[in-house]
Amino acid sequence: MREKGIVLVVDQGTTGTRVALYDKNGSPIPGGWAYREHSQIYPKPGWVEHNPLEIWEKTLLCIKEALERSRVDPGAVAAIGVTNQRETVVVWDPRTGQSLYNAIVWQDRRTAPVTDALRENYFETIYEKTGLVPDPYFSGSKIQWLLENVSGLREKVSRGEAIFGTIDTWIIWNLTKGSPNTLTPEKGGAHVTDYSNASRTMLFNIRRLEWDEELLSILGGIPAESLPLPRPSSDKEVYGYTGPEVGGVFNGYSIPVTGDAGDQQAALFGQAGFDAGEVKCTYGTGNFILVNTGSQIVKSKNNLLSTVFYSLEPGKATYALEGSIFVTGAAIQWLRDGLKIIEVSPEVDPLAESADDTGGLYFVPAFTGLGAPYWDPYARGLIIGITRGTTRRHLARAVLESIAYLTRDVIEAMERDTGSRIKWLKADGGASRSDVLLQFQADILGVEVIRPLVRETTSLGAAFLAGLAIGFWENLDAIKKLWRAEKVFKPQMDAEKRERLYSGWRAAVRRALGWARE
Ligand code: G3P
Repeated sequence: MREKGIVLVVDQGTTGTRVALYDKNGSPIPGGWAYREHSQIYPKPGWVEHNPLEIWEKTLLCIKEALERSRVDPGAVAAIGVTNQRETVVVWDPRTGQSLYNAIVWQDRRTAPVTDALRENYFETIYEKTGLVPDPYFSGSKIQWLLENVSGLREKVSRGEAIFGTIDTWIIWNLTKGSPNTLTPEKGGAHVTDYSNASRTMLFNIRRLEWDEELLSILGGIPAESLPLPRPSSDKEVYGYTGPEVGGVFNGYSIPVTGDAGDQQAALFGQAGFDAGEVKCTYGTGNFILVNTGSQIVKSKNNLLSTVFYSLEPGKATYALEGSIFVTGAAIQWLRDGLKIIEVSPEVDPLAESADDTGGLYFVPAFTGLGAPYWDPYARGLIIGITRGTTRRHLARAVLESIAYLTRDVIEAMERDTGSRIKWLKADGGASRSDVLLQFQADILGVEVIRPLVRETTSLGAAFLAGLAIGFWENLDAIKKLWRAEKVFKPQMDAEKRERLYSGWRAAVRRALGWARE
């Protein structure tokens, strides 16, 4: 057997699954990655589902491909880390591994009537205990919906024939299925989640770090035994070892699964954002911005959410404030697929760069309303300031700039909540490859924006968590030393121009708010 010098990560996201291998320096192993998309299922307007079995099959294929392509002997894999699209709910039979309904995805809005009622009657209780505001985004109302709408499900749950989990739980359960060596052998595999994922369910008390009986009962009576065991994100006790079902993929080796975190939290971890005040922004289809608030749960007065960032010890957690922006990179896709003014997404950069400015044009990408800090489901997209001289170059630039403006909106809300100015912003995710975007971000924030050498910070974060548990990395300081910046974008715009442009943005947003209600 080779020296155990590698950590394997499964990053199960909304559009696809990525598997990546990392060495002790936190560097990706050449060829050691694979990616596969899965189907998006839209049974009705506002409903979004995934097939859990398809996700699991593709995960296994990715693991195989990454190991084969890199020629890594599975015996060299020291630990496995899992990170995932958060809030999405799976229900399955632990005796067979068959899912009993499609996964209900975080974007699904079917439970809006339930959460509207919760908002009215239990807003304070839910916010106090979970750090979240009642919304269909979170897992709790989805589990309630399954219990009330899938025939016979409640009875199956009471007989132990059905269990729930978020996607991390589903992947870990499948990896460890049939192994006698798990934290929950009676459930047929490790039926666990970590505190960061649990904190997105609206059922988890983020102070006590356990499922909250009162919330379980408010959400229609969800039996606690049907939920996974909440554990630290990096677990020295090991969630479980890979089981016989995946034995073939790992050449018969039994590998410990030791790290788990929601993808946005894992990204801040992979950015080595361990000090209170560290902020990261992941530029994806939407943007997710998290600031580390240390051991403090900051109560937001500006419509941000409090959430568990990570935990390295049972009963203890580090917290974060989070702001989610629903549409950012998706607006670039709209330029490509809707307006067809570019053919592939990266074309937006040279096009935007070919204009010195937008010529007074503003674009507000409120396609599905606006998330943090506005939370207005009735806001709609808007382009304003068009003149006879406006061209597609200006529009491309306005789209990129809107991503930076929205990010500033959230960061200003964070600064008001925490009472301190951010020192810099760490950027990651697909669209962070754009120099034009990150330069404008630095200009409009007036602080440095830093892009790391390894841009896949989500999977790197999960690797760090898994590796910490087995002593692969000694502590957070050792990890901090591995983190490297690739490029620092320094603000170049003068303050007068910055504030003039930003106040134009605020004026444009005011016009977009409430549009669909009127
Ligand atoms: O809260 C949803 C978030 O975790 C989804 O992330 O990257 O899979 O779209 P992503």
